[in-house]
Amino acid sequence: MTFKTLDDLPEDIAGKRALVRVDLNVPMADGLVTDKTRLTRIAPTIEELSAKGAKVILLAHFGRPKGKEVEEMSLRPVALALEEVLDHRVDFGSNCIGDIALKEVEEMASGDVVLLENTRFHAGEENNDPEFTKQLAINGDIYVNDAFSAAHRAHASTEGLAHLLPAYAGRTMQAELEALNSALGNPTRPLGAVVGGAKVSTKIDLLENLVSKIDVLIIGGGMANTFIAANGAQMGASLQEADMHDKARAIMAEAAKNDCRIILPIDGRVTTEFAANAPVEIVDFDENTKLRDEQMSLDAGDKAIKNVIAEFEQLNTLIWNGPFGVFEMPPFDTATMATAKAAAELTKTGRLVSVAGGGDTVSALNQAGVADDFTYISTAGGAFLEWMEGKELPGVKALG
Ligand code: 3PG
Repeated sequence: MTFKTLDDLPEDIAGKRALVRVDLNVPMADGLVTDKTRLTRIAPTIEELSAKGAKVILLAHFGRPKGKEVEEMSLRPVALALEEVLDHRVDFGSNCIGDIALKEVEEMASGDVVLLENTRFHAGEENNDPEFTKQLAINGDIYVNDAFSAAHRAHASTEGLAHLLPAYAGRTMQAELEALNSALGNPTRPLGAVVGGAKVSTKIDLLENLVSKIDVLIIGGGMANTFIAANGAQMGASLQEADMHDKARAIMAEAAKNDCRIILPIDGRVTTEFAANAPVEIVDFDENTKLRDEQMSLDAGDKAIKNVIAEFEQLNTLIWNGPFGVFEMPPFDTATMATAKAAAELTKTGRLVSVAGGGDTVSALNQAGVADDFTYISTAGGAFLEWMEGKELPGVKALG
């Protein structure tokens, strides 16, 4: 797909108003931003536009206030954090439309940066209401979308605006699309994917589509327990979704039809206590496994880890979403840490292109100290999954 980037901007944008959609849906605790990754990622776009003399007006959502003003979901504290990251003043407008926004924008000088309040305080945002979109558009001469991680939402500020103003992809959007397209669009094969984590039902649909595109599917976490149980094992109190067994069997059949191998953990770290440093027994897994009711597998075992690393060694491209175990709690971080380090090492030596995405995955890779060694780490969660599923993202499509 072709789309305009900041390289296609008119020569002189000094004094022009750039409405820039960014993703400021960042983790916060006690009014402070606890992970600034998304802020760092949008800095290049803001800095480039500001350096060219544009008036940079940032639009973003925070949380899910469902069309109402919710004080805890104000973007005001994020403006302060962004100011630190940019080392540049960021003014704040307490409404993204109407007189407040208008006045804020009128007072801007070339190069200034303003963040307007949470777009989701208005129902028109999520409804992609044309009237609301027009009210946003009044404050801009051009529209830049730098929020790949919100591009799966067809909302006024992520999709609608692209139809009203000349639209460009920001640098992060561009980097995400280029990296993701090179991984799945035209990958160097063999191509493998790790899909793990706890959200079985929200992720299982993507597997159906994925097995027709990739050569090896490596399953971890609650998803793996669901597949092992679907093969006949009793997984005790392990996280899994019994009503997904038919679906899991259908995916295994679809994979076989498409010559996609499915790799399930052949052993697991089993315990009776959901707690850090709980006593662990390593149990082999196959269709005859019978865990007791109180037993649960919280991570892949040592043989499974070896197996996964051996698979990685055969791959040229790897996409990763979701951890193998409860990586926040040792020793159930063992498989995620060991396999993440192996993928990072293969990437560093130029033998693997590795792309990872999703909130949990990124924090697991940070915990393993290898996030910088992957070829690309996407800041997107839901959008990354929809992209893996092969869906067209409305925010991206509107840029084309
Ligand atoms: C995200 O944090 O993944 C994006 O900002 C999308 O947020 P949403 O799931 O609330 O639409």
